[in-house]
Amino acid sequence: MTEQRNKVVLAYSGGLDTSVMIAVLRERYDLDVVAVHVDVGEAPDEGRLTARAKEAGACDVRFVAAREEFAEHFILPALKANAVYQGTYPLSAALSRPLIAKHLVRIAHETGAVAVAHGATGKGNDQVRFDLSTRALDPNLRIIAPQREHNMNRDEAMAFAAARGIGVPTTKKSPYSIDENFWGRSMEGGVLEDLATPPPDDVWGWTVDPRKAPDTPEDLVLRFEAGVPVALDGRRLPLLQLIEEVHARACAHGVGRIDMLENRIVGIKTRELYECPAATVLIRAHADLEAAVIDRHLYAFKRQVDDAYANLIYAGHWYAPLREALDAAIASIQRVVDGEVTVRLFKGSATVVARRGNGILYDKNLSTYGEGDAFDHRAAEGWIDIEALPLSTYRRLHPVELS
Ligand code: ARG
Repeated sequence: MTEQRNKVVLAYSGGLDTSVMIAVLRERYDLDVVAVHVDVGEAPDEGRLTARAKEAGACDVRFVAAREEFAEHFILPALKANAVYQGTYPLSAALSRPLIAKHLVRIAHETGAVAVAHGATGKGNDQVRFDLSTRALDPNLRIIAPQREHNMNRDEAMAFAAARGIGVPTTKKSPYSIDENFWGRSMEGGVLEDLATPPPDDVWGWTVDPRKAPDTPEDLVLRFEAGVPVALDGRRLPLLQLIEEVHARACAHGVGRIDMLENRIVGIKTRELYECPAATVLIRAHADLEAAVIDRHLYAFKRQVDDAYANLIYAGHWYAPLREALDAAIASIQRVVDGEVTVRLFKGSATVVARRGNGILYDKNLSTYGEGDAFDHRAAEGWIDIEALPLSTYRRLHPVELS
């Protein structure tokens, strides 16, 4: 009777690195490997992926269709929080990690595995997100990150694969490290590591070069109900489909290209390029409508909530109680986020050009400088006197130099 070996559940992308990792986990860690691919929208071929994992020595292969779940339970909360890290990055890669970790842990429980494994390196953010999520979901599972422990480069990985008859991809490998799902595509490495070099054309995989985008702008009307985008140009659509349609239209106008210097969790700065067409349009539309339906004090508070939310996602704290508390505040605010926003797409830009909705607090009678002004101009005087009191009291003692 052959002895049962312990099992490990591996986050399997289907690429060279995680294929090699199957053999590494078998040979160096003496574990049987359950390869799990969680599909969040990078269009994998399920048949080929499964065959590849088997060929590399996996004892079991699972394909998890998770696009809807990703849209409803990860992207939607982030959209309600207008979540952008450093005011720029819509957190596409960061959002997928807690979802992948959840399925790894679930399958570990189903298969009786003692460990989970992933291919993240020791200097990136993804290791932190996978590991913190796993710890939160099951602190008893062992976490194995072979790349962090051995740091195998591409040539070594190729040689390792060739020696074991593991299929090496025939397509030319991109010079960049790429991660993608329908909220965004991230590119790093290669020539991008030189900050003084503008992004070469070949880095962009989705969006049309804004210079070659149509010469006529295109308007897109998004309807929100309680903060949720529910219709595009008057057609009600399930969330995932709506995101995919916005994605296609934004790509055609070169919208969503990002080039930033990012503060990583591990303390280093890296050059990161992203294409986030749907996220750029949807977050802009949501934030605009939300600002129109809440007063300025709640708006100032919501900006802080949003920033805390973005930082939490980035740092891998998705399963923290802080997120539940922030979600509760956000849900309370979203109750009034109803209405329609028109976003104009034109040569790389996405601009809100119109908004409609019964909850919008704009009152033309109060705002107008024309006929029918209902604002009491005299009321401002007394109010300013009181607002000025602490200023004038302090400055009587500490006057500002006038020359
Ligand atoms: N810097 C981005 C983030 O931390 C992108 C990470 C992408 N991951 C990757 N393995 N290429 O969210």
